[in-house]
Amino acid sequence: MYSRIIGTGKYLPEKILTNFDLEKMVDTTDEWIRTRTGIEHRHIAADNEATSDLAYKAGLAAIEDAGLTAADIDFVLVGTTTPDLIFPNVGCLVQEKLGIRGTPAFSLEAACSGFLYALVVADQFIRTGQVRRALVIGAETMSRIMDWTDRETCVLFGDGAGAVILEAAEEPGIIYSTLGADGRYRELLYASSGVSTRHRENSDIPALRMKGNEVFKVAVRTLESLVDDVIAKNNIEKGQIDWLIPHQANIRIINAMAKRLEMPMERVVLTVKTHGNTSAASVPMALDTAIRDGRIKRGDMLLLEAFGGGFTWGACLIRY
Ligand code: ACO
Repeated sequence: MYSRIIGTGKYLPEKILTNFDLEKMVDTTDEWIRTRTGIEHRHIAADNEATSDLAYKAGLAAIEDAGLTAADIDFVLVGTTTPDLIFPNVGCLVQEKLGIRGTPAFSLEAACSGFLYALVVADQFIRTGQVRRALVIGAETMSRIMDWTDRETCVLFGDGAGAVILEAAEEPGIIYSTLGADGRYRELLYASSGVSTRHRENSDIPALRMKGNEVFKVAVRTLESLVDDVIAKNNIEKGQIDWLIPHQANIRIINAMAKRLEMPMERVVLTVKTHGNTSAASVPMALDTAIRDGRIKRGDMLLLEAFGGGFTWGACLIRY
């Protein structure tokens, strides 16, 4: 038993924040942001939109794309680091909005690798025969944990949600997946406070903190060995991968991965320019973008990869 992707969807909030808008908020320039990151603008959730609203809209789009109704879904899993509430978890909130009852529904947090983590967990449930059709979502409102006075982080992130429907199949589908983490790097990338620490951090509002250039080095090193591992374990040639769908943190990290895989940039799905870094939402939104515009076709070999806070990382080799 394997799992395969039978539908995808995404949702981007209407409001757009450009680099020029940011020039008016912090000491930065469009030129600095574009050349260091590849970002031109990002989307920001409206005041009345929470992560579960974005997740619901992306999930519904994926269900419709698969030609299903919500009643056909028997598992809901959301990767997110910016949940609406401590509980109910975002999976339950999405399940309720979709009108589904009784299925397992939960969320997991693995920062920017959250969607890859969720995809791999759902794949395991399908492979063991417990689940037939899973809705897997990556959704974030990163704007809500930004320190809008910190130019080193607030120019990087955006909001959005992406989703896939995974269905049980006799052929893969997901051919191979790998996940990893290393908790030693906490000081390089973290949220400044949380539920059980806010009393000592003297802050009720968590803000993302990052030592960007140090994260950059570990990200490139880790992702390079990750893609090497995928190639070696599956006994494939680099040229057999049709599309790289990377986490969209920074164009320079993505360029390094394409180089490692000897892939021309035309074979790399890029959304960082218009989405910014949407953490767990970035990979499924990029996937949906390239499927809907016709670049990714049935039968193509895809490599999805991500790296994020934790540190966490993951990759999936998929026959679409
Ligand atoms: N505008 C203008 N100047 C800036 C800005 C800004 N927005 N931000 C920083 N600078 C300045 C710095 O102060 C520094 O100035 P100095 O030389 O006078 O000290 C200079 O620009 C260079 O700063 P660096 O941090 O060395 O710049 P770098 O080239 O490393 O780019 C960046 C920074 C874009 C953050 C990059 O390091 C990066 O993308 N890192 C990886 C991020 C990532 O992958 N995160 C993981 C996922 S996120 C998650 O999991 C939630």
